[in-house]
Parts: sequence; structure tokens; C-alpha cells
Amino acid sequence: MNQPSTSETIHDLIGVGFGPSNLALAIALEELAQTNGHALDALFIDKQSDYRWHGNTLATQSELQISFLKDLVSLRNPTSPYSFVNYLHQKKRLADFINLGTFYPCRLEYNDYLRWAAEHFATQAVYGEEILRVEPELLDGRIDHLRVISRSAQGHERLRRARSVVVGSGGTPKIPPVFAPFKDDPRVFHHSQYLNSLEQLPCTQGKPMRIAIIGSGQSAAEALIDLNDSYPSVKADMILRGSALKPADDSPFVNEVFTPDYTDLVFNQPQAERAKLISEYHNTNYSVVDIDLIERIYGMLYRQKVAHQYRHAVLCRRNIEAAVSTDKGIELTLRDLATGIQQTHVYDAVILATGYERRSHRELLAPLQQHLKDFEVDRDYRVLASPELNAAVYLQGFCEASHGLSDTLLSVLPVRAAEIGQSLYQSLGQRASNARASATLASA
Ligand SMILES: Cc1cc2nc3c(=O)[nH]c(=O)nc-3n(C[C@H](O)[C@H](O)[C@H](O)COP(=O)(O)OP(=O)(O)OC[C@H]3O[C@@H](n4cnc5c(N)ncnc54)[C@H](O)[C@@H]3O)c2cc1C
Ligand SMILES: NC(=O)c1ccc[n+]([C@@H]2O[C@H](COP(=O)([O-])OP(=O)(O)OC[C@H]3O[C@@H](n4cnc5c(N)ncnc54)[C@H](OP(=O)(O)O)[C@@H]3O)[C@@H](O)[C@H]2O)c1
Repeated sequence: MNQPSTSETIHDLIGVGFGPSNLALAIALEELAQTNGHALDALFIDKQSDYRWHGNTLATQSELQISFLKDLVSLRNPTSPYSFVNYLHQKKRLADFINLGTFYPCRLEYNDYLRWAAEHFATQAVYGEEILRVEPELLDGRIDHLRVISRSAQGHERLRRARSVVVGSGGTPKIPPVFAPFKDDPRVFHHSQYLNSLEQLPCTQGKPMRIAIIGSGQSAAEALIDLNDSYPSVKADMILRGSALKPADDSPFVNEVFTPDYTDLVFNQPQAERAKLISEYHNTNYSVVDIDLIERIYGMLYRQKVAHQYRHAVLCRRNIEAAVSTDKGIELTLRDLATGIQQTHVYDAVILATGYERRSHRELLAPLQQHLKDFEVDRDYRVLASPELNAAVYLQGFCEASHGLSDTLLSVLPVRAAEIGQSLYQSLGQRASNARASATLASA
């Protein structure tokens, strides 16, 4: 096996992924460099070839599900040059945006905002390299540095070293086991690949297709609307286990669960109480749809009834018992959860809008596992570790169980980034003064 190419530099920090979480951190570190009088040597590595925010899901009708005021910076520093308002100003669209009268820009525009912010950090970002693993570098029983191994699109491996690592690698598409045999079948794909995968299907040339969409969350609803609007030759069924499409609760009192103060409230509870709080507000985020989309879908189905032309259907209370490929297409066996009756439906393609798992940190950090306390974190998102692990490891987006529902979202990015940034300065500063003290002792 070829040895990975190695650099002698030891970075203060390597960020795994350069999504909104680590981008917010890059900005916070720039501010902290001014207050601390020196900058950290931070490098952010992303596997995508350029900056994209859930790029394959950016259908034209998709809107941000959070106020633009919860951008990368404003909650912490409304005067930051990296605000969404300044982006609009720079792009000469501020007055026009105000005329829209909305807090919810389309996601295509928000993607452009994030790209614009990321461009300011081009010298600290590496694109097109996937981090494979983070390993300990054990020296005299201590781990002062971590070895970060990446692979480029061309298959070339590279080893870098860092005094700390922040994992912000986002969610992993959840594939129900019944669809596992279709792993390499281009007719069955997760919603995270929506635009690319759809592009390969005959409906883009106007050919008739029957498509199943599995799930009842925002992704599933957006797919149904997009297939209806953009692909007139498609007949789609949305298949869900629940008894109805349910709205996301974004009413103002409930929305307080997404404020930075709420993070403290959740974190300070015992484990069982944290879990209760998260489950109580599950319907703010998971398996729910924005009410305006629900109303659009209902209106669409009602017009079909008026016209007696049935193109799409929402099939509630259906469990998928089996999925097999036949000469007619992909045959799904659906069991009605109320009556127990089973029916088969045949489709030309299946979109799995089945959500995301948060486990990539466990895979990336597996070589460190024996030094970590089961990936539990402290209030500053630093993974709890045994004393020999001197290098700090932080998690962004993997702490919902300890820090609450905002953890996987954009809600508290600016505040979380500053908390991690301050903790980084503190831990690296502490290490530097310990090293100076040891050097003085050694020379005395
Ligand atoms: C379609 C969709 C829409 C959403 N809309 C909203 C919304 O409107 N409001 C909201 O609050 N939340 C929304 N979310 C939730 C979403 O998690 C956050 O918006 C946000 O993307 C979280 O940022 P992140 O940086 O933690 O993760 P991500 O945005 O997922 O970024 C992770 C980055 O890490 C990179 N990466 C992953 N693994 C590796 C690796 N091994 N090596 C190198 N790079 C790697 C990826 O390429 C990616 O760029 C949405 C989620 C989805 C799926
Ligand atoms: N415009 C936007 O801003 C936008 C767009 C898309 C997504 N998002 C965000 O992205 C996040 C994820 O949303 P999402 O819609 O992708 O996922 P989600 O809300 O987690 O919903 C996943 C759906 O898949 C279903 N499912 C999971 N496993 C299944 C199985 N084995 N069989 C059948 N059904 C199964 C779930 O059903 P059950 O309910 O029965 O478990 C649920 O309906 C949310 O934060 C959401 O707000 C935002």
C-alpha cells in the first residue's frame, strides 16, 4: 500500500467538513484572533469539490426554514461583515429583498450566501479531500497531536497533523434496511442526491414515470411539490407510516427551544430529562412539514378530485414490508397499519426521503475511541477524554442528546462557534504555558 504524503506542519486546528457549522467557526476564530492578539493556524477540509450546502436538494421551491437573522453571525455579532444583510448589500439586492417581506429566503439564495462567506476563507479551506480517519500520535504515553488522514478524488492519501480537531461532518443519509439491496441501483436513491439522481431518469426527457417518495418530512414534501411542478410526466405516491402529514410547530413560544439560552437549560438537566425535552419538541423538526407546503399538497390533491384526474397520492399508515425488482419495475409491498391489508404497487423509481443519522463522528474518530468517554461532550462541545489525550476534539452537530434540538440546525451556529473558539484558545494557551513551564524546569 502507498504511504500517504505527509506534511511537517502541525496545525492548531483541523476542521473536518466545511459546512455552515465549521464556516461559522472560521468566522468566530477570525474575531477571536483580534481579541486574543494572535490567530490560530486553522485548516478546514471538505470532501466536496467546491462549497455547496445540501446542493443536490436545492429545488427551486425550497425555502430556508429559519429566519435569515439566524445567519452565521448575527446572533453573536450583528455588526459582523459576514451577515446575510451585508451579503445582500454587497450583491446589491438589499432593497429588493426587503420588498419581498419575508424572513425565509429560498435555499438557492442561502446557498449563495454561504458560498460568499466561505470565499473569504479560501486560504484556510481545502476542497475535494475526504477525511478518512483521525488517529492518535502517541509519544511518551501522551497524545499531543492527532493525525488526520484524507483522500483526494484521485485516490491520493495525505496525512496532516493537528493539536485539535473539530468534527462538523453533518448527517449521513438513512437507508431503511428493506432498500439495502438497491444500493447501486440508480432507480432508488436518497433525497440527499435528489437533483443528480433525477437527472439520470427518463422523466427529465418527458417520459412517463411512476415514482414513490418514502417519508413524511420536509424533504418528502418538497420532492412531491417539485415532481409536480417540474416533471409533468411523473405520477408520484408519497408513502408514510404516520396517519397524516403533520405540520412543523414553529409557533413563537415553542420556537424558544431553538434559542442559545435553551442550550444551557437542556445541558443542565439529567440525562432522562434531556431526552424528555427533546422528545416533547420532536415535532418542531422531524417527520413534519411546513404548513404552507401541506396546504399546497392538499390543494393539489383536491383539484385532482375536482377534475377526476388522479396523478399523485398520499398513502398514509403504510409500512413497507418488501421491495423487489421485477420486470415491471420496483415492486413495493405495503401493509395498511390500520387494517393489516397488504397491497403491491409498482414504481419506476423510489426516492428515500427517510432522514439522516448522526454517526459519521464515530466512524472518523474510531481510532481514538479507547481514549474517549463514549463520545460524550462537555458544555463547550469538547469530547470528554482520558488524561493522556491532550489534543482536543470537538463535535458540531452530533450533540443533540446533550445540547438539544438546535444542535443539528442553523439555529445557534454563531454562539456555538464562539463557545468552541474560546475553548480552543483556552486549551491551546494552556498547553503552550505547560510546555514553557516544562522547558523552564528542564533547563533549571
Ligand atoms: C435539505 C436540508 C435542508 C435543511 N434546511 C435547514 C434550514 O432551513 N434551517 C436549518 O436550521 N437547518 C436546516 N437543515 C439542517 C442542516 O443540518 C443544517 O442546515 C446545516 O447544514 C448543518 O451544518 P453542518 O456544517 O453541521 O453540516 P453540513 O451542512 O451537513 O456540512 C457538513 C460538511 O462536511 C462535509 N463532509 C462530510 N464528511 C466529510 C469527510 N469525511 N471529510 C471531509 N468533509 C466531509 C460535507 O461535504 C459537508 O460540506 C437542513 C438539512 C437538509 C438535509
Ligand atoms: N427547506 C428546508 O429548509 C428543508 C428541506 C428538507 C429538509 N430540511 C431539514 O432536514 C432535516 C431532515 O428532514 P427530512 O425530511 O429529510 O427527514 P425527517 O424529518 O427525519 O423525516 C424522515 C421521514 O422518513 C421516514 N422514515 C424513516 N425511516 C423509515 C422507514 N424505515 N420506513 C418508512 N419511513 C421511514 C420517517 O417516518 P416516521 O415519521 O414514521 O419515523 C419520516 O417521515 C430536518 O431538519 C428538516 O427540517 C429542511
